[in-house]
Amino acid sequence: MTKGKVDALLGIVFGDEGKGKVVDYFTPRYDVVARFAGGPNAGHTIIFDGKKFVLRSIPSGIFDEGKINIIGNGCVIAPDLFMSEAHELEAAGYELTKRLHISRRAHLILPTHRVLDRAYEAAKGKNKVGTTGKGIGPTYSDKAARVGLRVGDILHNFDEKYKALKARHEQILRDLHYTDYDITEEEQKWMQGIEYMRKFNLTDTEYELNHALAEGKNVLAEGAQGSLLDIDHGTYPYVSSSSTTSGGVCTGLGIAPNSIGHVFGIFKAYSTRVGGGPFPVELFDETGDTIRHIGNEYGAVTGRNRRCGWLDLVALKYAIMINGVTDLVMMKGDVLDGFDTIKVCTAYTKDGETVTEIPYDTEGWQPVYEELPGWKTDLTAVRAEKDFPAAFASYIAYIEKATGTPIKIVSVGPDREATIIR
Ligand code: GDP
Ligand code: IMO
Ligand code: MG
Repeated sequence: MTKGKVDALLGIVFGDEGKGKVVDYFTPRYDVVARFAGGPNAGHTIIFDGKKFVLRSIPSGIFDEGKINIIGNGCVIAPDLFMSEAHELEAAGYELTKRLHISRRAHLILPTHRVLDRAYEAAKGKNKVGTTGKGIGPTYSDKAARVGLRVGDILHNFDEKYKALKARHEQILRDLHYTDYDITEEEQKWMQGIEYMRKFNLTDTEYELNHALAEGKNVLAEGAQGSLLDIDHGTYPYVSSSSTTSGGVCTGLGIAPNSIGHVFGIFKAYSTRVGGGPFPVELFDETGDTIRHIGNEYGAVTGRNRRCGWLDLVALKYAIMINGVTDLVMMKGDVLDGFDTIKVCTAYTKDGETVTEIPYDTEGWQPVYEELPGWKTDLTAVRAEKDFPAAFASYIAYIEKATGTPIKIVSVGPDREATIIR
């Protein structure tokens, strides 16, 4: 029997590249779809048959009713938000409890983790990270500090463990003089979420996945966030707190490196970033506003304006290297339809120095651009490569040459249908 493989679909920039859309599109080719990192800081948009869903913790393979979806051990989960998200899908007619399995080793986000998130951000003042406020950093901190609560704890002496961790958080909040909060209602809903989670298969998904692979089944690992938000490889400290890169697929699911097949690296035809931190290609002018407006670049989770700029090849090449990307997926080409020329950042410069590799501190660097002709054609109706306008085909070829990596999939609209495989 051929051993199955885990293919990974990873956001390779600052998140919001369109992972949800492509995972949903790919799901029919896989047996299992699994999230390996992050939690409700993610917002993955899926649009089909005139319907739109934004998933946070639930994998984007959930709309294919024959498939198992897994929330892996590398994830963090907020029971109250998970319950709301699941209720939305149930209301739309999707059965979840049989097909959605949750690792017992995934960590729980407590209401007080969210308060801590706010308190730490407030303490940072102008240097705040601009987090999603979902308690991600404090939860992963507790995991690393070996005091966190895991999904498996729901099944054994839960109240006692919950009270102990909550008390620890309350003490920290008192030490920070951050006492003006009230989680009474939130906590009630959170406890309902805990009860709701008991309906699910809270299991050792690490065994489940490896057994599936041994039977020759194929798994799609769905990334969250993006490589430049990775705790090790991102623009630290302006990052999230999990391992979002391909190494995180192994640790976040419990699968071995030699099980990994394709690594799909997904990016947009331009750049965005939400939250604080360095972003050399950021446009503060009308062009940036135009990209934001046409690309609808407003956060799926927080509604915040996404910062916009031209494509950054320095960042892209770095992420391809870190992840071992085998195939690129380029999204939202249609957003650039109206531009006469399109810029691409090929290097950074500061104080007379020019670099083509990501510097240790990306603060203060200016982009060096090359300019390419725009295609000035509506791409949204295009469904075959042969119909690409010449300038769009050249843009793709330019990126492939610069990165040494093939662009295998091109997306020209938010709908499932607007996807072209090359
Ligand atoms: P994710 O977090 O990586 O899943 O991405 P998000 O869902 O946060 O953001 C991607 C946004 O772009 C969503 O609003 C999608 O509906 C939309 N989108 C995805 N692909 C395309 C595309 O090719 N063209 C356009 N115009 N929008 C797209
Ligand atoms: P998806 O999966 C874009 C950003 C936040 C902030 C930083 C840390 O939808 O691509 P956190 O709440 O994780 O502690 O915030 O990371 N961030 C994202 N940006 N897409 C995401 O997820 C993100 N998840 C976190 O804006 O700058
Ligand atoms: Mg998103």
